[in-house]
Amino acid sequence: EYFSMTSLACSMLNRTNLISNIIFFLFLYCYTFQKMSLKFKNAKRIEGLDGNVWIEFTKLAADPSVVNLGQGLPDIPPPLYVKEELSKIAAIDSLNQYTRGFGHPPLVKALSCLYEKLYQKQIDPNKEILVTVGAYGSLFSAIQGLIDEGDEVIIIVPFYDCYEPMVKMAGATPVYISLRSKPMDGKKWSSSDWTLDPKELASKFNSKTKAIILNTPHNPIGKVYTKEELQLIADLCIKHDTLCISDEVYEWLVYSGNKHLKIATFPGMWERTITIGSAGKTFSVTGWKLGWSIGPYHLIKHLQTVQQNSLYTCATPLQEALAQAFWTDMKRMDDPECYFNSLPKELEVKRDRMAHLLESVGLKPVVPDGGYFIIADVSLLDADLSDMKNSNEPYDYKFVKWMTKNKKLSAIPVSAFCNKETKLQFEKFVRFCFIKKDSTLDAAEEIIKAWSRQKS
Ligand SMILES: Cc1ncc(COP(=O)(O)O)c(C=O)c1O
Repeated sequence: EYFSMTSLACSMLNRTNLISNIIFFLFLYCYTFQKMSLKFKNAKRIEGLDGNVWIEFTKLAADPSVVNLGQGLPDIPPPLYVKEELSKIAAIDSLNQYTRGFGHPPLVKALSCLYEKLYQKQIDPNKEILVTVGAYGSLFSAIQGLIDEGDEVIIIVPFYDCYEPMVKMAGATPVYISLRSKPMDGKKWSSSDWTLDPKELASKFNSKTKAIILNTPHNPIGKVYTKEELQLIADLCIKHDTLCISDEVYEWLVYSGNKHLKIATFPGMWERTITIGSAGKTFSVTGWKLGWSIGPYHLIKHLQTVQQNSLYTCATPLQEALAQAFWTDMKRMDDPECYFNSLPKELEVKRDRMAHLLESVGLKPVVPDGGYFIIADVSLLDADLSDMKNSNEPYDYKFVKWMTKNKKLSAIPVSAFCNKETKLQFEKFVRFCFIKKDSTLDAAEEIIKAWSRQKS
């Protein structure tokens, strides 16, 4: 179209001179390109949201010679019965077709039976549960369905990275508050040492506050919020008539001496809370990308509206297999074999192993009470990062890139879980994932110990 327009224009203007034709051609090209480029521009709501820690660091760790303790994906096998359910289901024709948009009936039934026990209240499978594409899908539907332009949303730093762009895409303003640790003076560091200052938290609430996003057990610190801490948040939510989006994807992964509590069960909180879970984290099948939101119908119906007008439904065979997996474990909740009990037991050993390893080379890990990550201050390693090109990146970004390249060990920089203003506060920390086979942890141990020997 462009070339035919140009030649038509040239012939109309009877341009025979080569130079003037070239100038005319260039002018027309620039004009056309400028017009086109306006159409190619991103929508304003995604302006500045193009960076993503998973895309950047997953690419780096893709090298098979790298021991990957980065992204939170298990390399231990998922439970056999979960995999077997899925392969049986693939042979059933009707289960390879679309199912109910808001959640496959057997799955919402299984979820309601499980969570009724935990909430000690009836949960309507059709109105109070929405099945989504991973916990991401639940976060997205909740934020799109409930948060408006001009609203403020409180986000606790460090935070799972997608909270911030999702709030911004909804046109709202994130309001940040940091978890802070008291000085440890040589004592062991635990995730419970990281707390919110009650006065500071109260100061973040105002008439524009639409919601607070809570994450317990916490990624990346591993903090499991106590009853008192949750009560403080609940009191503020009630006082300021605020919603709570509670990301509880690691709800089963809580270690000795700790208990996961659901803020939705606190008095006055059910009606204002969306609680989010994940099949990926519950059954170590992150590739299934199934999640769910649970809450009162007056909130869930808005998430349903987002889902019916975006993704419509989730994969039927996966939902059916997940329902069967839940039934298997629901029947043996008090049995040590139940995956909700056996997985945290298995992971606690791995957590302790990672903590000892990091301590043995002089690092100070923050030992998590829940989840499957451990963070450590790596500045004590004094790595020489002078040859790292992008000098204005935070320390932890450079450190992880350097470590991946030179030591063949990958992790995730903790400042990726921070807003611009708080990156400095966390840039000395990196996050290691420990839901890994013993052989993977052996390989990591070898690298870290050899590195430490080289230094001494
Ligand atoms: C705190 C938290 N929320 C949500 C998600 C996303 O979960 P899913 O894979 O089910 O979308 C993750 C995944 O790592 C997470 O750590």
